[in-house]
Amino acid sequence: MFSLKTRGMHNFSLEIREAEQSDLDEICKIEIECFAEESFTYPQLKYYLDSPNFITLIASINGEKAGFIVGSIEDAGGERVGHIYTIDVKLKFRRIGVGSALLKALERFFIKRGAVRSCLEVRSDNIAAKNLYLKLGYKPMGVIRDYYGLGFDAIRFEKTLRQ
Ligand SMILES: CC(C)(COP(=O)(O)OP(=O)(O)OC[C@H]1O[C@@H](n2cnc3c(N)ncnc32)[C@H](O)[C@@H]1OP(=O)(O)O)[C@@H](O)C(=O)NCCC(=O)NCCS
Repeated sequence: MFSLKTRGMHNFSLEIREAEQSDLDEICKIEIECFAEESFTYPQLKYYLDSPNFITLIASINGEKAGFIVGSIEDAGGERVGHIYTIDVKLKFRRIGVGSALLKALERFFIKRGAVRSCLEVRSDNIAAKNLYLKLGYKPMGVIRDYYGLGFDAIRFEKTLRQ
């Protein structure tokens, strides 16, 4: 279902599933590893996990939690639109396809629930994330000045989802 690059002689088995309460501590650890002082807090991540309006998917590699993604479906001018809030992959599991697999899994979830587009905001200096979105077909739609605080702009990306 998901393809991963192999590193040397290692074989990876990737599983992606909906996150549960028991995943919350590890989700918080991964978030802090990825974003340090700009991390979502434990209560925010718990809210995303508990709220029926949000979906959190978690990826495991050979049974070890490797990353997660959070999204929601919103109504925008009569259309259903998927919104990605964060995507985080542990440093040691980067660049083997986990981020791509999480994004594709969330897009499938959006499509099943009738979303016609997927959108997100990313800090303009986040090269890795911007490349990931471009590679998966997202288009930059414009800059939102100071979205992450004074002097830290966001780029809004969107992708049309094929039903
Ligand atoms: C962005 C992030 C989720 C990517 O996860 P990942 O599992 O490493 O991504 P993938 O292995 O699926 O990479 C897919 C593509 O993204 C791009 N990419 C990923 N990491 C990159 C890097 N460090 N530099 C440049 N491009 C990168 C590449 O185009 C890559 O394809 P390639 O390996 O064939 O060149 C990961 O770097 C991360 O967790 N970063 C910290 C959290 C963050 O910034 N999240 C985004 C918030 S909007």
